[in-house]
Amino acid sequence: MDSPILAQLFRQLFRHRPAGCQNRLAHAVRPRHHGYSGSFQRQHRRAYASRVSIDRGMKTNESRWQQRTHILPRDRSDEFAQYPYISAAELKQRTERPRRVKMLLRDFIDDSLYNPSYGYFSKQAVIFSPGEPFDFAAMRDELDFQSELGRRYTEFEDALDDAEGENPTRQLWHTPTELFRPYYGEAIARYLVSNYRLTTYPYHDLLIYEMGAGRGTLMLNILDYIRAADPQVYARTKFNIIEISPSLAAMQNKHLRATAESRGHSDKVEIINRSIFDWDQYVPSPCFFLAMEVFDNFAHDGIRYDVATEAPLQGHVLIDGDGDFYEFYVHELDPLAARFFRVRHAATGGQYPKPYPANPALRYLSTKMPFAANLSDPEFIPTRLMQFFDVLEKYFPAHRLLTSDFDALPQAVRGLNAPVVQTRYERRMVPVTTPLVHQGYFDILFPTDFRITEAIYRAITGKLTRVMSHGDFMRRWAYVEDTQTRSGENPLLSHYKNASVLVTV
Ligand SMILES: C[S@@+](CC[C@H](N)C(=O)[O-])C[C@H]1O[C@@H](n2cnc3c(N)ncnc32)[C@H](O)[C@@H]1O
Repeated sequence: MDSPILAQLFRQLFRHRPAGCQNRLAHAVRPRHHGYSGSFQRQHRRAYASRVSIDRGMKTNESRWQQRTHILPRDRSDEFAQYPYISAAELKQRTERPRRVKMLLRDFIDDSLYNPSYGYFSKQAVIFSPGEPFDFAAMRDELDFQSELGRRYTEFEDALDDAEGENPTRQLWHTPTELFRPYYGEAIARYLVSNYRLTTYPYHDLLIYEMGAGRGTLMLNILDYIRAADPQVYARTKFNIIEISPSLAAMQNKHLRATAESRGHSDKVEIINRSIFDWDQYVPSPCFFLAMEVFDNFAHDGIRYDVATEAPLQGHVLIDGDGDFYEFYVHELDPLAARFFRVRHAATGGQYPKPYPANPALRYLSTKMPFAANLSDPEFIPTRLMQFFDVLEKYFPAHRLLTSDFDALPQAVRGLNAPVVQTRYERRMVPVTTPLVHQGYFDILFPTDFRITEAIYRAITGKLTRVMSHGDFMRRWAYVEDTQTRSGENPLLSHYKNASVLVTV
């Protein structure tokens, strides 16, 4: 945690905001509500929760808790009772960040990442491209690769500065698709072609859906490979992108039309600018469904448990008139969170990690410590991911999923299955300690628990799966010599040690 940098960052955001928004930012910097400082973290550890004393129109007095994550916060229970709920659909229509409302944490995160007017993916995200593929065979070792990567990053950002002017809050990051292009895409193409030839060829076309395609690089690398390696299959290939972000969808289109070589794929590609959660077309044909680093940005619900009874309470966010954020926990679960608990329990036979001691004696003792909280640490449950599996089951009954994502993340906020919340300022990544931050300026990415995810996917779709590490998938399907340095070190295998791949078998 780096408070001076954050203070500077928010001053910068403040300076860049249109006049009407300045106040909102001014309030957003107050560490009391956002937990940026080291001292806040210490206070957080001694957190306790208390029951709201006044009931103002809620169903039962027992149902609302304010987890006090900092010492002596102003009690916001009046506002919580008075402010209206704002739904995900209403948030999507908003062109300015809302105030004097409450919402589910899941909807707050969705809005922060995807609001069409101020969401991170709609407005801020810039995905790095190295330009020419790296010449790994000419590099001495892993270190040499790192320094070349650093050089290309600087070059890429300098070019953006020249074109658009300097931007200290530019949100730039990379994915394996980009770092290892075209080899990463070729490995996936090999997997697709082999499996297609072994199963549905020649009775069906090779139908590919990619959800969340970033710059469109994977699509181009896959199509280039199939065109060169298997013209027969290429003739029968159709590639569809489902992309939520209008700016990324436009970029995918631009890259598709950029060169004569890429334009050659145009009649095979359809780019659909829509969230997967708004999907309504039935696709009965066998197809492959790709999702690379998309699960991590699916919104999660925040849950804390009553340590005495183990009852779950669902996290809500209250935004007051000054634009400050408060976290509340409510006994009643919304239907999606309630279903998640049922599905997870049935799919795993009740075997899943919990954010409090499993042993009843230890649990009891933990509530008796001085300053002990009456609610557990938070757990972040992947409710949107479960909804995505519902979409697959309902609209893509003959799909085969291939997905890759982080199975663990360093520097996450506190809690079980907790996200990393980070922003980039003056070309440095700055992690913070809470997802309740100025909407649109922070990437919020969650790890995926592949054991639980696999069980839930199987339960919903009735399909069988295999999970393997990113390295094992690449050893099987990539030509690993393409990414090997002279010392024998191989960044394709050594990077992304915290990523796994799940495939339908
Ligand atoms: C971290 S980026 C990964 C991009 C690309 N797959 C790669 O690996 O380079 C996440 C992508 O998923 C998209 N996305 C996130 N949620 C989505 C949704 N609900 N429907 C469709 N696309 C979504 C984002 O706009 C972005 O393109």
